Amino acid sequence: MSDQQNPPRSQSHQYVHAGQSQPGAAVYPGLDDWRSLPIKQQPEWTGHAAYEQTIEELSALPPLVFAGEVDILRERLASAARGEAFLLMGGDCAETFAGSTADQISAKVRTILQMAVVLTYAASVPVIKVGRMAGQFAKPRSSSEETRGDVTLPAFRGEIVNGFPFTPGDREPDPSRMLKAYHTSASTLNLIRAFTTGGFADLRAVYQWNRGFMSNPAHAKYESMAAQIERAVTFMEACGTDFEALKRVEFFASHEALLLDYERALTRLDSRTSLPYATSGHFIWIGERTREIDGAHVDFFSKVQNPIGVKLGPTTTPEQVTALIEKLDPERQPGRLTFISRMGAGKVREVLPPLIRAAQEAGAQPLWITDPMHGNTVTSANGYKTRRFNDVMDEVNGFFEVHKELGTVPGGLHVEMTGDDVAECLGGADPIDEAAFEDRYESLCDPRLNHKQSLELAFLVAEQIAPERGRSAAAES
Ligand code: PEP
Ligand code: CO
Repeated sequence: MSDQQNPPRSQSHQYVHAGQSQPGAAVYPGLDDWRSLPIKQQPEWTGHAAYEQTIEELSALPPLVFAGEVDILRERLASAARGEAFLLMGGDCAETFAGSTADQISAKVRTILQMAVVLTYAASVPVIKVGRMAGQFAKPRSSSEETRGDVTLPAFRGEIVNGFPFTPGDREPDPSRMLKAYHTSASTLNLIRAFTTGGFADLRAVYQWNRGFMSNPAHAKYESMAAQIERAVTFMEACGTDFEALKRVEFFASHEALLLDYERALTRLDSRTSLPYATSGHFIWIGERTREIDGAHVDFFSKVQNPIGVKLGPTTTPEQVTALIEKLDPERQPGRLTFISRMGAGKVREVLPPLIRAAQEAGAQPLWITDPMHGNTVTSANGYKTRRFNDVMDEVNGFFEVHKELGTVPGGLHVEMTGDDVAECLGGADPIDEAAFEDRYESLCDPRLNHKQSLELAFLVAEQIAPERGRSAAAES
């Protein structure tokens, strides 16, 4: 398995500051153009006493990721766009400072690795593992204020901006939270790197974990594929496979780069090429609410070298896709651009095909992945934001059907998930019902698949990507 290596820690890459708070330092041309463009979803805090000092400190802190790793991820994503790999990206809707504990981080990494083993077996190609982790602290909101009774306060924008409790003090945007987000991201990433290189990711351990999932009678229908995976691992062992090498996996970090003060302060010029990299994470994406072609986010993203994503919701037009390609990937660089389609189960089959065709006509080969979460949010009878597992699966199926029809590549999956036993999404083979929300709904933002629902999704997607295997598994059971 060619993906089972560490991201190389590049020795030759050094960073210089990309200007801004460094007097006299060269500013990369155009890197600050976004400042004069319309910008959405930012807190009003530039006049805050801590603002200047925070930006200065952030600008002087070490990068969280290295340009060499970012370049490797771009190559991996290029192979996924060609159908030679599959991308799995998952994590919380909104990370929290208090939730960035060893236990919660390890449960999330473990769940992603478990999902990846199932998908790797089914797809027979490397699965690129990316945590929606170590930086997913800023949230776009549909309204900038929240009213409860006769009190109106600023909306919660993620812990990088303000606090969740509904008090004036918590909801006041505080720029120094950016430093806490940086340090929390650094410690999260440090633990991820330790886990994924230090033996935690050993393939044999991962398939043992899946045994725990299989021991639940609700998951009996996945037994056949699980048994096949187990046989494959045993076979590898018998053949003398070097499991030492398989103890390490590549694991990358991604987030929505919403808060441009933070992103800009962590942008560095790579000393090899003098090109700017967002060093807040390997992969960053633009959300559905900030993807206007003449807006600040698209401009800023067009200047950094990272592989980038753009969320595409159900109102996206083919013209918008073409314009995004021209602006964000004018050179059609393999792996540069990922479109994350989040249409809703009822719309994906109709809205997605013309968008894929527009990209083809533009001579581009973006990576197409599905986010089956954000188009399928509903409110439960008892007032919780939720998603039905069946809707999520229906959107995934629609995504695969569309690509099959067009002969294009369904390259990956982006999910909001956790490794914990929460109750936030409805359904699954071991079903979650609305009553469970009262005790086990923990998300501060959108509902996540819990550990079991995440693994179940992986098994169901596995059946999609390997119909032959899925069929033979069904025949055996
Ligand atoms: C998200 O991914 O949490 C999000 C807000 O998504 P979107 O931009 O697709 O609405
Ligand atoms: Co979300």
